[in-house]
Amino acid sequence: MEYFVPEETIEEIRGCFNLVDIISDYTKLKKSGRNYMGLCPFHSEKTPSFTVSSERQLYHCFGCGAGGNLFTFIMSMENLSFMEAVRLLAERAGVSLPERKLSREEKKVKVISEELLKINDLSMKYFQSVLFKTDVGKKALSYLKERGLQEQAIKKFHIGFSPPSWDSLKKFLKNKGFSESSIEKAGLIVLRSDKSGYYDRFRNRIMFPIFSQHNQAIGFGGRVIDDSQPKYLNSPETPVYNKRKNLYALNFARFKMREKDEIVIFEGYLDVITAFQNGLENCAASLGTSLTEEQAKVLRRNASRVIIAYDSDTAGESAAWRGMDILSSAGCRVKVAQMPKDQDPDEFIRKRGITVFNTEIIQKALPLVDYKLEKIHESTGNSTFNTPEEKISYLNKVLPVLADIKNNVELELYLQKVSNQIGVDLNTLKSELKKYKLKKNKKSRGSAQDDIVPLKKALKPPAAEKQLLILMLKSKESVEEVKKHLDASDFIFEPYRLIVEKLYALKDKNSDYSINSFLDLFTDSETKKMIVSLTMADNIDLDNCEKVITDCVKKIKRYQLSLKRKEIEGKIQEMDKERDAGEIRKLLEKWSELKRLEKDIVPYRRE
Ligand code: UTP
Ligand code: MN
Repeated sequence: MEYFVPEETIEEIRGCFNLVDIISDYTKLKKSGRNYMGLCPFHSEKTPSFTVSSERQLYHCFGCGAGGNLFTFIMSMENLSFMEAVRLLAERAGVSLPERKLSREEKKVKVISEELLKINDLSMKYFQSVLFKTDVGKKALSYLKERGLQEQAIKKFHIGFSPPSWDSLKKFLKNKGFSESSIEKAGLIVLRSDKSGYYDRFRNRIMFPIFSQHNQAIGFGGRVIDDSQPKYLNSPETPVYNKRKNLYALNFARFKMREKDEIVIFEGYLDVITAFQNGLENCAASLGTSLTEEQAKVLRRNASRVIIAYDSDTAGESAAWRGMDILSSAGCRVKVAQMPKDQDPDEFIRKRGITVFNTEIIQKALPLVDYKLEKIHESTGNSTFNTPEEKISYLNKVLPVLADIKNNVELELYLQKVSNQIGVDLNTLKSELKKYKLKKNKKSRGSAQDDIVPLKKALKPPAAEKQLLILMLKSKESVEEVKKHLDASDFIFEPYRLIVEKLYALKDKNSDYSINSFLDLFTDSETKKMIVSLTMADNIDLDNCEKVITDCVKKIKRYQLSLKRKEIEGKIQEMDKERDAGEIRKLLEKWSELKRLEKDIVPYRRE
């Protein structure tokens, strides 16, 4: 991880603040025992489950799992990177940060970015003044008004108009002292094909500025006001405009998204603006492409539920489905709204009102899996599944959807649903799904299967691993003790393993660290949350450390052996008794060996 600020300075900044005061700016806290409690600022709740420990300077929400320290709190509330949060707090505390030495390359990027942002900002203002103050702007303004946009919304979104001229923006910006090369980098002018000079990219178009999360104009979308093509022209990617990371209107919407813990994703700029104008303010639009992993991460940071409200034809496209899967993998609960054919949200809201939109479209959105099942059913012409062929062809399309469901309870429910739907026995479905998954795994793993089966990654942390981690986070002596018995790789729950690796590394270097500085070593917020929640766990007996460690180590070792045995059992089951007889015998020997080892570990006392 790259730090540009020395550890002492970070500590100095940390020392200037009391987390309880900082958090009190965002939510009301009340003393309760040794801690402070309040309504969680990260999700909406009616009874407080958000805890701040003044002693440890950590916060943790028992409801949504949010947790961290001073820096993570400011990072998520203000949507900043670690360094940005450090800078902000340093400024507030009056701690001067050492001037960071930028490499020559970094300096260049910084200078260029600042210049491009200035160019974008001036252009935005230029387009706005053309829209409101010139004759050519009049027809654009009346187009917008005809489409139902109110002046307030036009101003809020800084909408403008690019005049029908080949070089008016270029002239304007050159007059302000910018070079053609910089204006071209900002994506606002284009080199003529005979290279004889530059012309304005956007002409005779309504200009929608696209903002960064910090309200800076970073690019534009330009819409024609007649039927000419293309309907929209967009800024290219530039050093300040990354289309994979940004979303339209996120800067305006993120606070409402947090508050509601829900996000509505539209396709078009105008859908967003109309929604905002009507009071639906937790929405954004992807930028003319399907959703990316980077966007999904940003969205997940702001809310856990996402409703996709695309036009009905785009929602069914495979690119759109991929985007929804990406959101779901990022940990969002995804629902898909079903728009009536040939009507986009903008038109729907204007014609039928926001209340009907909320009750008929948003509230009736289907969970992603239901939506997919319904679409697949539609694609079969809403078959009634009378023939085996119909059932099989539907099932073949549905299995990949079912195979993606990670939660077992959820899977069971959908299996039941499909079973009822097509009239195929539940167990038969389960075995079909198993076969499908096996085939898919084989394909992705290739044929290189060797003797020792890799341990399955644990989805849930084993209790013994958890206990040890709690101990190690609380006392450095236990790190030393645990390290004598277990490698980091012995922790099969991956997030724990990563934490243990860091703890061991610090021990090796004999570093002095606090739980708070330890937290800063992690960039991933899920891991941070986990560390905080383990640190805040109070149900541990520090006096009985040694005994707890020996017991847990034994449990872990036995558990590992039993897992290895299970893997072998699974492998044998997949084999052919006659053809693979030799192989099976070898595996059985290995199995007995493991069983013996397992017994050798003195059985622990059951609590
Ligand atoms: P839409 O065609 O739905 O446009 O495209 P819209 O924003 O709803 O505008 P109206 O209602 O027709 O005026 C959705 C989004 O796809 C991108 C734009 O981001 C647009 O907002 N798009 C569309 C383009 O980038 N280029 C195009 O030619 C069309
Ligand atoms: Mn539209």
